Amino acid sequence: MTGGGFVANGPASGFNGKITVPVVITCIVAASSGLIFGYDIGISGGVTTMAPFLIKFFPEVFRKATKVKTNMYCQFDSQLLTAFTSSLYIAGLASSLVASRLTAAVGRKNIMVIGGCTFLAGAAINGGAANIAMLLLGRILLGFGVGFTNQATPVYLSEVAPPKWRGAFSTGFQFFIGVGVVAANCINFGMAKHSWGWRFSLGLAVVPAAIMTIGALFISDTPSSLVERGKVEQARQSLTKVRGINSNVDAELADLLKFNEMAKDAKKEPFLTILERQYRPHLVMSIAIPFFQQLTGINIIAFYAPVIFQSVGFGSDSALIAAIVLGLVNLGSILVSTGMVDRHGRRFLFIIGGIQMFICQVAVTIVLAVTTGISGTKQISKGHGVLLLVLMCIYAAGFGWSWGPLSWLVPSEIFPMKIRSTGQSITVGVNFATTFVLSQTFLTMLCHFKFGTFLFYAGWIALMTVFIVLFLPETKGIPLDSMHEVWQRHWYWGRFVRGSGR
Ligand code: BGC
Repeated sequence: MTGGGFVANGPASGFNGKITVPVVITCIVAASSGLIFGYDIGISGGVTTMAPFLIKFFPEVFRKATKVKTNMYCQFDSQLLTAFTSSLYIAGLASSLVASRLTAAVGRKNIMVIGGCTFLAGAAINGGAANIAMLLLGRILLGFGVGFTNQATPVYLSEVAPPKWRGAFSTGFQFFIGVGVVAANCINFGMAKHSWGWRFSLGLAVVPAAIMTIGALFISDTPSSLVERGKVEQARQSLTKVRGINSNVDAELADLLKFNEMAKDAKKEPFLTILERQYRPHLVMSIAIPFFQQLTGINIIAFYAPVIFQSVGFGSDSALIAAIVLGLVNLGSILVSTGMVDRHGRRFLFIIGGIQMFICQVAVTIVLAVTTGISGTKQISKGHGVLLLVLMCIYAAGFGWSWGPLSWLVPSEIFPMKIRSTGQSITVGVNFATTFVLSQTFLTMLCHFKFGTFLFYAGWIALMTVFIVLFLPETKGIPLDSMHEVWQRHWYWGRFVRGSGR
């Protein structure tokens, strides 16, 4: 046994769902909720560099941005604009916490629908914004939307997927986030030169919102969520639908009912339950995983890549090319994760991806230090630029098969039913809070620490990789309701959960 290395032999319960056409379709439809999050990540960076948008809403920023800069690390420093972009994350944080309570009352599917509608309203308001107030209101609604969907969707996927293939199904969420990012970047490129371009870019967010909302209306809620809300007959139908007409779902349903009964005994405030000693490992993971995900520096690399691409001579199209290349590498690597996550496990991918990203961040630091000089005023040569691009692609691939999808998958699969949605809310909240703080501070950091900024992220990646090695047990193939066993057998967490954990 390694540090955290309990390896499962297979499901502890007698049942194990097969891959059926309905379960595949249901999960693809549910995972498409990732589109709206990805679209927003991809669209906001581009829109906030469009001159007509800046002139209308942030004239001061525009004037500053057009002044000639000598230091390549300081040319984007503008707190006001970052605050606008990240206002979404504050709203998302608030709504993800509300979603925990709502999802227990109305189910995962309905939260996805509510999230989609809220996002749609936000997109429409943003597209038609006449002043900053409208822009902010729209952003807040978008934030509520992704707060809801990011809370409900990963849990939905984990609960519906056959345990043996849960990892593969769950990576679908990150895949759709990636599709949203690439689509948004292409739209930004097409719109950048038009004076109303920003309106289309922001307004077109109604399309992914409509796609995922309509899709969510057609899927049934998860068996666990239906059982939790006392809808046993509907839970049976939902199980039969996803496991296949001819499969016997009695054992699985009986387990769900049993665990629901056990959970009822302990029914109290879920945010208090989660603080109990027996849930300490779960709580630590739900905070550490999203926190570390952001500290890989993924959003920072995505932001910084266009600067590098420009310096290699891609001219005004550099931002698009940078985003598309990184986006496609990212999408491809998520698919690699889909194929490997249930065979080689979560720990393997986390560790490989971590080492890969660490090496890339250190290498980026060295290349930048050598080429731009201490002051940051020297231009990067074409050869070094190409080297940086290659490093960034390897980095994006590392993220795509590790911390990208797994940061949504693992928190959604480790909690017992009664606090699953609460745990996922904490994960989304921490993800958004960390994104907010990092994006608020990154530009200033870059301006002051220059290439050293990338070393800061390398340090975090080293730390998180060690954390995984020591503290994350393997969860592949384990049915959700048997998950307590992995903690009980873990060398460290065992002392917290022995004889309990459901
Ligand atoms: C992260 C985002 C990131 C995206 C990149 C998500 O899992 O939470 O912060 O921008 O992946 O595709």
